[in-house]
Amino acid sequence: MSRKILVTSALPYANGSIHLGHLVEYIQTDIWVRFQKMLGNECHYVCADDTHGTPIMLRAEKEGITPEQLIDRVWHEHKADFDGFHVEFDHYGSTNSDETREFAEQIYLKLKAADLIEVRSIEQFYDPVKQMFLPDRFIKGECPKCHAKDQYGDNCEACGATYAPTELINPYSAVSGAQPERRNSDHYFFKLSTCQQFLLEWTTGQKTKEPPLQPEAANKMQEWLGTEDENKLSDWDISRDAPYFGFKIPGTEDKYFYVWLDAPVGYMGSFKQLCGKTGINFDEFWKQGSETELYHFIGKDILYFHALFWPAMLQHAGLRTPTKLFAHGFLTVNGEKMSKSRGTFITADSYLKQGLNPEYLRYYYAAKLNGTMEDLDLSLDDFVAKVNSDLIGKYINIASRCAGFITKRFGGKLGHMSDSDIAALRAVKYGDTLEGGGQAITSSEASLYGSAIGQKLDGARETIIASRNKIAEFYETRDYSKALRAVMQLTEVANAYVNHFKPWELAKLDDEEAQSRLHEVCTTALNMFKAITTFLSPILPVTASKVGEFLNTDVQTWESLHLDLLDHGINEYEHLMTRLDPNLIEAMVAANQESLKPMTESHSQTRHAEHQQHTPSPQSSGGTTSHSTRPAQNADQVAGYPLKGEGANVGAIAPIISIDDFSKVDLRVAKIVNAEHVEGAEKLLKLTLDIGEEKPRTVFAGIKSTYDPEKLKGRMTVMVANLAPRKMKFGLSEGMVLAASGETPGLFILSPDNGAQPGMRIK
Ligand code: MSP
Ligand code: ZN
Repeated sequence: MSRKILVTSALPYANGSIHLGHLVEYIQTDIWVRFQKMLGNECHYVCADDTHGTPIMLRAEKEGITPEQLIDRVWHEHKADFDGFHVEFDHYGSTNSDETREFAEQIYLKLKAADLIEVRSIEQFYDPVKQMFLPDRFIKGECPKCHAKDQYGDNCEACGATYAPTELINPYSAVSGAQPERRNSDHYFFKLSTCQQFLLEWTTGQKTKEPPLQPEAANKMQEWLGTEDENKLSDWDISRDAPYFGFKIPGTEDKYFYVWLDAPVGYMGSFKQLCGKTGINFDEFWKQGSETELYHFIGKDILYFHALFWPAMLQHAGLRTPTKLFAHGFLTVNGEKMSKSRGTFITADSYLKQGLNPEYLRYYYAAKLNGTMEDLDLSLDDFVAKVNSDLIGKYINIASRCAGFITKRFGGKLGHMSDSDIAALRAVKYGDTLEGGGQAITSSEASLYGSAIGQKLDGARETIIASRNKIAEFYETRDYSKALRAVMQLTEVANAYVNHFKPWELAKLDDEEAQSRLHEVCTTALNMFKAITTFLSPILPVTASKVGEFLNTDVQTWESLHLDLLDHGINEYEHLMTRLDPNLIEAMVAANQESLKPMTESHSQTRHAEHQQHTPSPQSSGGTTSHSTRPAQNADQVAGYPLKGEGANVGAIAPIISIDDFSKVDLRVAKIVNAEHVEGAEKLLKLTLDIGEEKPRTVFAGIKSTYDPEKLKGRMTVMVANLAPRKMKFGLSEGMVLAASGETPGLFILSPDNGAQPGMRIK
């Protein structure tokens, strides 16, 4: 019986561009959904933009547009990115919809009726200039522990301390710069602490057929929930004061739902819109006790919201709870957190603009995903190597070596297969080992296709577990890396088969027997190619449909997995994929380097910018370290607002250069043998520099404001020795002295360590 499944991915925040980190999740989900559809299950995939909250409101204001205009523009950008990567939602909505509003209100009213809402007055920072309460992330000040300046209201980036914004020394508003006041205001709380019993049962799977959480996630829950003796849950502040971009709380004039209240409700809102388009029965999927399956794919950083708040809300509002949450880890690039200055904060759009095939990334991620919460690394070198060796070298290679003969020699028609070939194909179809009963290939059959493939199969014997059912199980459990390992072994078998029979040599022989053998071999290889394509099609949907056209058959349902293309007309083979050119990757990284873009365009990722505010986040509840589940924010990630101070931010890092570029600059240790004022010059000092040449050099340096010439005499410093000489008003300058400067006043020339001699090269 076919299953009825509703799948979601987290709703991306409408405040930033989709980047390769996000795509881990959307690609992971899309592969799973495509697989379910291939099996013939009724599977619906919905998502939406997450559009509410302070950062979006402020950003729109900064751009001089309304929040509605901003989220509309971003919606189209996001949708184009997802389309570009073949992420195929059945519906992509927005949380700013009537449907989401209605559900949010209904849920809230149910919770209220169940006495789970409480109003409390709380004290908070208020920006008197901007006339708004400030989320923690919009308050900055001096760290109470290490006294680093310009730290955010929730944690210090210098020493890692976490604290309440009220503990900051000399706090100021990151929005207006004003000194914030403390003010009281009524806030609405969802009494989450009273849901502990339910959540203890739900998270441990006592309420569901199967445990709803991965083991690592279940462990985290223990930390967050506490025990029956010690309740670690605090109540959840679900309201924000005006001005706020969001939904007004029913029965209030100036209170809004906190963005995280309506965000998951957006799953329902988006699905409701899909139901409107298609006639799917909404209640069948959401009523309490529903027999359908509901899965949320999320990043590990938002587990708290999905495993605690969300099921508690649903349960007490009389709705079904999720069947399972599938949390994944975070993406690193080249082993490090994505970084704008290194150009590894790569946007989806820049990848596509570079002309890179989106299926390469889908393949690479699939090869790395294993269904756990472990982080995964996109190593750019490995990416190129893997795509070229697996996809081009192993997979496409099967077809590209055989297809031409069918067209040129056999009128575009596949022939038949010999028994031994069919035996070889069974290995592809069922992945059986050579020995043993059942469908296994006998060793005499194996010997028919020779030692080469025999050895290959021999070596792979233990590990070829590529039966349809096994690969299906790997997809089902989101262990795509295992699925792909099995599929790649099949490509190795197929290539060994082709290598052994060498169609290109059979083609040279004139006799009829060789021709008929050539026909058989190419027919067999292309049947293998078809089966392998079917296995890959959730990951490579576009290539699979091209292969379908080429082979003139359906390759995209699990049921089509018959090796039965006999006496079957196919179309001319057209190039399916090109090698991945590493230069394109380099160009993409360069294009993402922040310095190449104006700062205002920066893809600010105000992810969870407000989360810490009165949410019982892991930081505030129980004081457990939460490093692994809550990646630190980048200092420069808040909506283009003031960046780190103290001269650290004086513009982003320049574009990457090669070592060759760098070595063009000849830097030398120089001894300042003389330094003097220049008559009539406002800024310059005249320096005489010894760099071990016969004659010392004269350099005019703009350091008069900071340095007393007398004190410079005899000092060592660093100069550029091969800069073209420049004629100045006061004479010829034969080089340049290096100095550091920032936004704060001051200029600082460099000194080598003791022992450096004039003329030594710096490299
Ligand atoms: N708006 C919230 C989700 C609300 S769901 C009701 C949000 N948005 S987000 O844009 O910041 O992130 C969307 C998803 O992308 C999240 O599941 C998040 O974990 C995931 N990722 C964002 N950056 C990521 C990486 N660097 N690596 C892997 N996944 C990442 O959270
Ligand atoms: Zn500190």
